[in-house]
Amino acid sequence: MSLELNVDNLVKSFGQRKLFHVDQLRVGEGESLHLSGENGSGKTTLMKILAGLERPCSGRVMVTPKARRWWSDRIHPQVIYLHQTPYIFSGDVRDNVAYGLRLRSYSRRDVKLKVQQALAWARLEHLAEQPAYALSGGEKQRLALARAWILAPSLLLLDEPTANLDQHSVRAVSELVTQLLDKGTTVMVSSHQKNAVTDLCGRRLHLENLALQELGNAFSNELNNEPELKYYVQH
Ligand SMILES: Nc1ncnc2c1ncn2[C@@H]1O[C@H](COP(=O)(O)OP(=O)(O)O)[C@@H](O)[C@H]1O
Ligand SMILES: [Mg+2]
Repeated sequence: MSLELNVDNLVKSFGQRKLFHVDQLRVGEGESLHLSGENGSGKTTLMKILAGLERPCSGRVMVTPKARRWWSDRIHPQVIYLHQTPYIFSGDVRDNVAYGLRLRSYSRRDVKLKVQQALAWARLEHLAEQPAYALSGGEKQRLALARAWILAPSLLLLDEPTANLDQHSVRAVSELVTQLLDKGTTVMVSSHQKNAVTDLCGRRLHLENLALQELGNAFSNELNNEPELKYYVQH
């Protein structure tokens, strides 16, 4: 399903401290975005607000088309946020991958089939019966991606998906993200530094000085080799 994200005048503060004011952000179907910014600039907070997991102080986040019959007005079933440290539930890897489907009332047969497909997709089949907590960092990240993939998200928000991963695991994660992008999933990746996953992203957003800067299109910049500052709002 295609999905559009529209953000207007979004302000987030913690107490007296203003974290950011995002004037405007428009994200369309199938885009790939790298959200950069120093540690503490507000990347995680912004992504959680976009996913409806945290409330802004003011402003609005609109996901269209709207979802019907979901358990919260703010949370859209096609918008999925993956935490930097993947959530691991008790049980084995198979149970963990099935987790999201259980909340969505699929039949047992469908759950079994989809879980098998997701395990194959993330190359976790050989670990299906292992306790999930015992996986390595890279395997846990793949597990989190499999859990998201199975729900066919339209917008996937990946919060520092390669933090603390070795080069081999970074490559594995970037291959999975490439496949999601090929399927038309919109992906936003936060990372304070450039890496194999952020290199897949066409659009570059940067949080600094309480504002969100749009640094233009990475792919077209490669051609003219000149960073283009599209707009910059200072508050
Ligand atoms: N619930 C909270 N209460 C108070 N301060 C918070 C809360 N959540 C985040 N912050 C602060 O907001 C700032 C931005 O945090 P975060 O969004 O995690 O930044 P980033 O992901 O860019 O490192 C940090 O200084 C953090 O301490
Ligand atoms: Mg963060």
